[in-house]
Amino acid sequence: MTDIKAKIIKQVAPDLEQVEKALEENLDPNLDLVRRIASHLLFSGGKRLRPLLMIHSARICGYDTGFEILFSTIFEYLHAATLLHDDVVDEADMRRGKKAAHTKWSAPKVVLTGDFLLARALAIAAKTREPRVISVIANITQAMSQGEIDQLEKKGQKDLSEAQYLEIIERKTAVLIQGACQSGAIISNADQEKENALASYGYHLGLAFQMADDLLDYTATAKELGKNPGADMREGKLTLPLIHSLSNAGDEERKWMHQVIADPVFDQGRFEELKEKLLTLGGIAYTQERAKDHVDKAKASLGIFEDSESKTLLQLIADYSIERKV
Ligand code: IPE
Ligand code: IPE
Ligand code: MG
Ligand code: MG
Repeated sequence: MTDIKAKIIKQVAPDLEQVEKALEENLDPNLDLVRRIASHLLFSGGKRLRPLLMIHSARICGYDTGFEILFSTIFEYLHAATLLHDDVVDEADMRRGKKAAHTKWSAPKVVLTGDFLLARALAIAAKTREPRVISVIANITQAMSQGEIDQLEKKGQKDLSEAQYLEIIERKTAVLIQGACQSGAIISNADQEKENALASYGYHLGLAFQMADDLLDYTATAKELGKNPGADMREGKLTLPLIHSLSNAGDEERKWMHQVIADPVFDQGRFEELKEKLLTLGGIAYTQERAKDHVDKAKASLGIFEDSESKTLLQLIADYSIERKV
């Protein structure tokens, strides 16, 4: 385990225990089938990043009622809903080292369970008695559904630009993480400056987090990932390491890379060669630099807060977002 991860775990262990309990207690379906499908994903080893971000965004603003634990489940239920939907959309068969839910049950049942989880998130959000938290969730759901549709529309598009990529990852990933942090400020009745700072922290963290995820798809092992590496390429998804490498490639190289990406049959040897190209053409290093830049911006956004345990934790999480192996 890295030093950063060990420090984070040490600090959040008590929160994590309470979040787990709250996630189980508040799921509350009428149907056993819904519980089984939702639990298959919910209790399969997620990092609980979004609830932790909400909890400590609230605490950095001085919130201390204890209700931050319950309210933080909003963002894990929402996240779980989007993962259930995402694996159907991407036709992905693995998630967190287990069979994706839609391969065990069916896509319709899984999509409807995702809707149930979204509704649970909203029901708990209503308990905050802060209409702005509901607005944040509405905004997240609007952005994510459109980010996912946009990505689907652009599947296989060989000339996807960095700007188009950024637009997709902002919607599908950054807006949720941003919303979790911003909602922590809202429930604390923090002033606008603090709310903006946490929103900015979450936004940059979210972009860095997705860039790191896109790097891991090329650099990590199946065991580390809990799913097969190279999934993005197989799904026809062009991400920053590839986009940047393509922009640096010569005509022949680019033609070869386009062929590998478009090939419907996955070949491990060619995937390894492609990974080599991403290194030599600078796509890996460039993505690492861009991600690091967003980590720095995320941390700088916290500058207005006085030192506290939560501030230290949020800084550590920013560093971890690009160090992580899962
Ligand atoms: C996965 O998010 C989806 C992305 C935005 C890349 P996480 O990496 O936070 O997933 P879990 O919840 O820990 O499995
Ligand atoms: C991240 O999308 C998941 C969502 C934002 C819904 P991806 O499709 O890139 O992530 P993984 O690889 O399935 O986790
Ligand atoms: Mg996916
Ligand atoms: Mg996807």
